[in-house]
Amino acid sequence: PTAWHDVGEPDDFPDGAAWPVVADGLPIAVFRQGEELFALYDLCTHGAAKLSDGWVEDGCVECPLHQGTFDLRTGAPCKAPVTEAVRAFPVRVVAGRVEVAVA
Ligand code: FES
Repeated sequence: PTAWHDVGEPDDFPDGAAWPVVADGLPIAVFRQGEELFALYDLCTHGAAKLSDGWVEDGCVECPLHQGTFDLRTGAPCKAPVTEAVRAFPVRVVAGRVEVAVA
């Protein structure tokens, strides 16, 4: 069964920005793009950098350390030096609360 974890209200996540949360003990970066929310594991697969400190552009987040990028939807690498996908988590809004699924 999917375990959904409450991480706040939609207004806690500014449009266009990245925001760190903890769900089930895991560091997760939540991103808002208009009405859509995305969640990625909050550690770059290339090194010790938090994606919640990254820059969001064109549906990808840019790692602050070496500027590799990941697709917000899938966690797939978009730009070198990132070669390995980062884990992506489902996000939903239920009754005004944002929930992230951590299986
Ligand atoms: Fe993220 Fe190098 S640590 S691109």
